[in-house]
Amino acid sequence: MKILTVIGARPQFIKAAAVSNIIRQQHEEILVHTGQHYDENMSKVFFDELEIPKPDYNLSVGSGGHGFQTGTMLMKLEEIYLKEKPDLVLVYGDTNSTLAGALCASKMLIPVAHVEAGLRSFNMNMPEEQNRILTDHLSKYLFVPTSSAEINLKNEGVIKGVYNVGDVMYDGVLRFKKLAEKKSNIVEKLGLSKNGYILTTIHRAENTNDINRLKNIIEALNESNEKIILPLHPRTKKYIEDYGLKFYENIKVIEPIGYLDMISLEMHAKKIVTDSGGVQKEAFFMEKPCITMRDETEWVETVENGWNVIVGTNKDKILNAIISFVPEQKQKNIFGDGSAANKILDIINS
Ligand code: UD1
Ligand code: UDP
Repeated sequence: MKILTVIGARPQFIKAAAVSNIIRQQHEEILVHTGQHYDENMSKVFFDELEIPKPDYNLSVGSGGHGFQTGTMLMKLEEIYLKEKPDLVLVYGDTNSTLAGALCASKMLIPVAHVEAGLRSFNMNMPEEQNRILTDHLSKYLFVPTSSAEINLKNEGVIKGVYNVGDVMYDGVLRFKKLAEKKSNIVEKLGLSKNGYILTTIHRAENTNDINRLKNIIEALNESNEKIILPLHPRTKKYIEDYGLKFYENIKVIEPIGYLDMISLEMHAKKIVTDSGGVQKEAFFMEKPCITMRDETEWVETVENGWNVIVGTNKDKILNAIISFVPEQKQKNIFGDGSAANKILDIINS
């Protein structure tokens, strides 16, 4: 079968790293990079260190408004789909690259497979929620990572073609953890002691585009008296500069890092404070308490299991959680058995 995969943003490179090589054992894959993320440390680093196959096409769409980005991707993808005539288009997650890949295929009557289907925040103000709902309803194969994702789809009347395969990011962590232990020396390089720092990421549009939310977050981190490592997403860097926000000395701001360094920092952190979807899951995989600076999460099982706490952007809530949040329950198996990519392959084959 000829499978055309569309990726474009950081978390999609990491998901594709777990799936692409497995699909290629039995199928031809055409890999299209939309160019949504393009800085070396937001894109190339992942292809190099995770041995993701080189993209056959790079659309070089770059940054811009949602209409520009999604529209340009649609136009360029149509040309490629016409030329390549794929049997199936595969998309991951909930970015503008996901929606463009799925919408273009659906209009051309090419079946769509959606990896990480069924997630819902029930907050339609999020561009990701719009992207994932639309993508799910355009997809023929919906690979869900969790039971709640399956229920969400059922509640929207989507039952056919839904497969709970587990989470491909769990496959990724299991596969790359050992390599990270061998290759990454970031903990030593930054002079950190194991379990002696908090790892933080911030990039969600609802947090960066609102000065009050971002100010609360930075103030809470500044006043925490904890050593904080913050690999800063370019979106957030731009807004912090625009708003004139300042970091105290306890916060070590670094450029975005590669995946091996990132999971190494996760592995040795005391706690993880984030608004990222992927990082919430990785905190769970690494058995680290996660403090989520959002008003809701799609990864509800991590909260129900007591390993993730939702604090929004209230300064006191963030500070209290940094000081006192400690999971009390043993972890349940939420994300499958680490063989999601193989299960996806089996379903595609059958
Ligand atoms: C996108 C996804 C989001 C995902 C995130 C992962 C959408 C709507 N959002 O958000 O769901 O969680 O990726 O990181 O698809 N920029 C650079 N260099 C880059 C990439 C971006 O400087 O290589 C800057 C630009 O100023 C750009 C901004 O970051 O305008 C935002 O990038 P964009 O891809 O539009 O959205 P993300 O916030 O990265
Ligand atoms: N990540 C990384 N380097 C960083 C920050 C994050 O490799 O500097 C990885 C992280 O380990 C996870 C993924 O990027 O696998 C999450 O992507 P992001 O937070 O950008 O997006 P989201 O998951 O929220 O869509």
